[in-house]
Amino acid sequence: MTTVPPPTQAYWRDSSERYGIVTRVLHWLMAALLLWQFVGMGLRLLLGRDSIASFFVGLHQPVGTVLFLLILVRLIWARSNRRNRPDHGSGFIATTARLGHGAMYVLMLTVPSLALLRAWGGERVFAPFGFEIFPAREVEIAWTGKLAGLLHGELAWVMALLILGHVGMVIVHERMWRDDTLSRMAGRRG
Ligand code: HEM
Repeated sequence: MTTVPPPTQAYWRDSSERYGIVTRVLHWLMAALLLWQFVGMGLRLLLGRDSIASFFVGLHQPVGTVLFLLILVRLIWARSNRRNRPDHGSGFIATTARLGHGAMYVLMLTVPSLALLRAWGGERVFAPFGFEIFPAREVEIAWTGKLAGLLHGELAWVMALLILGHVGMVIVHERMWRDDTLSRMAGRRG
């Protein structure tokens, strides 16, 4: 008797069992770039501008611009895979996880958007990696700078706290509940 093989899941797409290669690359690449941003700004707060912080902060704007582009791709990809992802389940913890993930997505979009808005409205040319995106203005659009000055850094630190909570919950899943949640994003499941 011949057995019918199970339908093969395209490895780049997500499934109910695990995240596919595209989601995983986006997740870990963004995690590394966000770490760069927070380590740099954290060191700047602790040690001042003229320290090792300048090594990280010197690339803050270009790296932030790349993060902005990556979150756009990630949102589109998440939407196209929304019916096809591991389920968080139901109950209080699952709802909190959903809300926490949603808040991180909102902040990953808002934080760089505010800074880019300030760059668009500013008097200086904005050219990350040497590519001119916004030319210099003769007169700045003051509200863009005020809005970003008020919210960019503050919301970024809120995002950092949410990311710490996210990492903390992964540790709880791995060490206490031992439900192998990390493997969905780490690629240990087929
Ligand atoms: C997801 C991406 C980004 C993250 C996580 C991030 C994070 C941060 C953090 C934590 C600070 C320090 C706030 C403080 O001093 O307490 C900061 C400041 C700053 N960021 Fe970003 N940033 C991002 C994207 C960008 C982009 C795209 C630009 C430029 C277009 C930019 C420009 C600046 C500037 C000029 C400052 C110093 C002035 C200020 O605090 O507003 N950032 N950012």
